Amino acid sequence: MKSIADMQDLAGKRVLIRCDFNVPLKGDTITDDGRIKAALPTLEKLLSQGAKLVIMAHLGRPDGQVNPKYSLAPVAKRLGELLGVPVTLAADVVGPGAKAAVESLADGQVVLLENVRFEPGEASKVDAERQALAQQYANFGDVFVSDGFGVVHRKQASVYDIAKLLPAYAGLLVEKEVSVLRKLTVDPARPYVVVLGGAKVADKLAVIDNLLKVADTLIIGGGMAYTFLKALGYEVGASLMDESKVEACGDYLKQAAAQGKTILLPVDVATINPAELDFAAMTLSGDVVVCPAEEMPVEREGADIGPASAKIFAEAISKAATVFWNGPMGISEIPALAAGTKAIAAALVESSAFSVVGGGDSAAAVRNFGYADGDFGHISTGGGASLEYLEGKTLPGLAVLDEEN
Ligand code: 3PG
Repeated sequence: MKSIADMQDLAGKRVLIRCDFNVPLKGDTITDDGRIKAALPTLEKLLSQGAKLVIMAHLGRPDGQVNPKYSLAPVAKRLGELLGVPVTLAADVVGPGAKAAVESLADGQVVLLENVRFEPGEASKVDAERQALAQQYANFGDVFVSDGFGVVHRKQASVYDIAKLLPAYAGLLVEKEVSVLRKLTVDPARPYVVVLGGAKVADKLAVIDNLLKVADTLIIGGGMAYTFLKALGYEVGASLMDESKVEACGDYLKQAAAQGKTILLPVDVATINPAELDFAAMTLSGDVVVCPAEEMPVEREGADIGPASAKIFAEAISKAATVFWNGPMGISEIPALAAGTKAIAAALVESSAFSVVGGGDSAAAVRNFGYADGDFGHISTGGGASLEYLEGKTLPGLAVLDEEN
């Protein structure tokens, strides 16, 4: 990978840079700006060399539709505060607003394009559609810098196709993430425990196969757990679950047993009445009831692991020499449903293992619990990206930086 350390004299040059600013929001308030802060070293370095910066980023999954709910406006504001220079948010991604904003850029100034996922071509599965959009991005830059580590596992126009059109460099964040995560793939100290949770169930179930090959113990909580509990034949009520993966989860359990690996699942669950949860406001009006995992009432939803599970999981973590954790154990933004996630965070902080926390939600959770980044070996900005890296997969956004163009 060519590094931005190799770039010189950027005065008068337009640097098109991909960042991952997919931050958690409550209304239009950013609840964890870790991903924005993580981008600062690269942005500051480029600005100090006199570059004109054109930043591309996404927020959520607006599926190719312009949707003000997913506007990058809160990000532009926060980025401007952190950088100490005004950040102009373009009115669109590649339309007249973006063109005008890029054309009027002076050296040392910054434009953030609107959410690239407002464009249907960005995440299209059709190569030609992505390439056509990337061609429009390419008009905005003389060189491309890839620094959105959290999104390098996506073969998308602003991550992958653009790197084939302009001289492409890795930013400082991408370099740092790769160098830390490599430690977990090259002979990690054992026992190596991977803790998986979170709500992107379909994405994460797909990685279990490969994680079983590298880890000694897999701890599964959060939205991930209920498909496994269903595979054990348990009632999971209104919990998050992927029916199409129930059989595969049963196979993973058998596979793990055959390989002498351990998969730990929750033995108890904190349940809620889904009608009492306001997801947009992140509030819960009713009670939380803990029950054994095999006795979930049909009308209730699992929303955190219970205390007995937390104890078992923490014990496994305390014996580990390497721990990678991705995804909260429950809806940790709601204090009554944060105990499981807090227990995992505390176990990691207390353990002497080399610990890596990955993913926007887990990182936000530990920071909101009051932990500092230095309490862990590393807090990765990548969720799915770090998981796929650890699985040993080729990440399109990294592989393309190794190609000559
Ligand atoms: C993330 O939050 O993990 C990244 O920003 C990627 O988002 P995605 O899973 O919607 O592609």
